[in-house]
Amino acid sequence: MGGIAYVNGRYLPIAAAAISVEDRGFQFADGVYEVIALHRGVLIDEEPHFARLSRSLAAVGMAWPMPKPALRAVIREVARRNRVDDDGTLYLQVTRGVSPRAHAFPAGLRPTLAMTARRLPAFTFERARQGVAVITLADQRWSRCDIKSVALLPNVLGKQRAAESGAFEAWLIAGDGTVTEGTASNAWIITKGGEIITRPLGHAILGGITREAVRCLAAENQLALVERPFTVAEALAAAEAFLTSTTSFVRPVVRIDDKPVGDGRPGPLTERLLRLYMQRMDQAATVTARARAGVKG
Ligand code: PDD
Repeated sequence: MGGIAYVNGRYLPIAAAAISVEDRGFQFADGVYEVIALHRGVLIDEEPHFARLSRSLAAVGMAWPMPKPALRAVIREVARRNRVDDDGTLYLQVTRGVSPRAHAFPAGLRPTLAMTARRLPAFTFERARQGVAVITLADQRWSRCDIKSVALLPNVLGKQRAAESGAFEAWLIAGDGTVTEGTASNAWIITKGGEIITRPLGHAILGGITREAVRCLAAENQLALVERPFTVAEALAAAEAFLTSTTSFVRPVVRIDDKPVGDGRPGPLTERLLRLYMQRMDQAATVTARARAGVKG
């Protein structure tokens, strides 16, 4: 079923929504994006997503496509027009704009803003806790993976390799043998001693919004968390492994390159973190719904 897309001021059926062939997003992947989850119709972690978009735009020298309050309104309108009144996702892309093809860009281009949103089946613990397999691949991306750029060719090829291998995700391996992250998620392990480990922020990974939420949840619940790089050998020797993203939440990783992690089933601490994460989403939805009711009443 077709949804509604927003493109540069217009809301159109997706099939009718179009971007110029000279858009720099199409020609050069000269753009950045965000994916935001909605739970019970409420945007989850809107502020950190805006903060990351701000960092991505600044890092590539692009302007905001419109003032932030207007952008917030458009986001809500796209969700509303796509009837994402329960669970779903919103995709937002900003490119440098349209100009005759030339690598260097003229000053003062009007950024292109495009958005879509789709409803998803209800986010349930049962669905989210299903363990997944990952494969490992050399990380062939650039040296600024902290920018949420739409230049995702290595990620796309990696995810496709994973799919062809019957896996959910590919974990990318840096030259020194450490895991950077997944093609569309952050990577984590839990040692037999119960220490939760993920790579520190830096240019090698995207600063995941879910990663940050899990980091805070671990701290609030007195769980030991260490930010340091880890290898595939460490992951295979770990008690548990998982990945995080806006769309996967906290997803147990039960096989790496066809070898089991721990006993090959979702681990207890991973499930605890998933539960905490889902409770946090629920709380955010409840608080916003109450605030809305308060405003109306
Ligand atoms: N991907 N690392 C990469 C390379 C990603 O593309 C993503 C998100 C993450 C996790 O970030 P967050 O927790 O903020 O979703 C890490 C999104 C969901 C996507 O491209 O669809």
